[in-house]
Amino acid sequence: PVPRAELLAGVAGKRGLLCLLSDRIDREVLEAAGPGLKVISTMSVGFDHLALEEIKKRGIRVGYTPDVLTDATAELSVALLLAACRRLPEAVEQVKNGGWTTWKPLWMCGYGLSGSTVGIIGLGRIGQAVARRLKPFGVKKFLYTSSRPKPESAAEFEAEFVPLTRLAEESDFVVVTCALTPATQGMCNKDFFGRMKTTSVFINTSRGDVVNQEDLYDALAHGQIAAAGLDVTTPEPLPTDHPLLSLKNCVILPHVGSATYATRSTMAVLAANNLLCGLRGEPMPHELLL
Ligand code: DGY
Repeated sequence: PVPRAELLAGVAGKRGLLCLLSDRIDREVLEAAGPGLKVISTMSVGFDHLALEEIKKRGIRVGYTPDVLTDATAELSVALLLAACRRLPEAVEQVKNGGWTTWKPLWMCGYGLSGSTVGIIGLGRIGQAVARRLKPFGVKKFLYTSSRPKPESAAEFEAEFVPLTRLAEESDFVVVTCALTPATQGMCNKDFFGRMKTTSVFINTSRGDVVNQEDLYDALAHGQIAAAGLDVTTPEPLPTDHPLLSLKNCVILPHVGSATYATRSTMAVLAANNLLCGLRGEPMPHELLL
C-alpha cells in the first residue's frame, strides 16, 4: 500500500482518490484531503476499509467493483475448499519430502462433497456463485445465513435459511462469503467452531475479521473441526511465524480470490471509469449508494 504519510500528503487538495482494499480511508485521510474531495473509487467489491459514515457526511461519492470478480472469487473458493478437504498442499509436500512410500489404504484421506451439506454464510453474488459451482459435485443440501432471507436467490439451490448456530451444527462444509460489517465481525468464534462437527471443513474468502483467529486455531489444533482454508486473514499479510501457519490442516492463501489477469484488468478499468464519471458529475458504472 501507499505509505500512510505519503497518502496523507498526496491526497491534500485532491478531487478524486482511487484506492485499494489495503488503504484505510478514514477520517484522518478525509481531513487531509480537505473539502475538495468529491469521489473515492476503490478497486474492490469490499468497502470495509472505507469510513462510510464520515464519507457520507462529507457528500463524497463512492465507486466500487462488484459483479466483475464474482466468478473468479467463486472459482477460488471452490479451489480452496477442495485443497483443504482433500489435503492437497499436505499431499504435494509428501511427494517432495519422501513421505510417499507406497499406496496405503488410509493414507492422506480427506472429506468429499458428494452427499454433503454445505452452509454458506452470506448468500450474495459470490455466495450464490459458489453454491452454483458446488452443486454438481453432488451436494445434498444447502443451508445459508444472511442479514435477511433471500428466497429468490435460494430457490436455485433449494437452500434453507437457518440461524447461524444450526448452520454450524449441520454443515459438512462452511463457506464464508459475507461482507465484513459490525454484525459479521468475529462471527465465527469459539461458540461457532464448538458447534461444528469434528469432520467439517471451514472456508473463508470474505474478510479475515469475520473470524476470531485464535478460536479457529484452537478448533483446528484440538481436532474440533477437520480443516480450514483461508484466503483472507488478520492481518494481511499474515506474519510468517503465525501459529495458524504451523497447522497441517489449515491452507492459507494470500488474498487471491479475484486474481485472474482478466478479472484484475476489468476491475482496474471499472475503478478508473467510476472515478472519471464521478469527477465529471455523471452516473458511475458502479456507485455505492450511501
Ligand atoms: C474485493 O474486491 O473486495 C476482494 O477481496 C479482492 O478482489
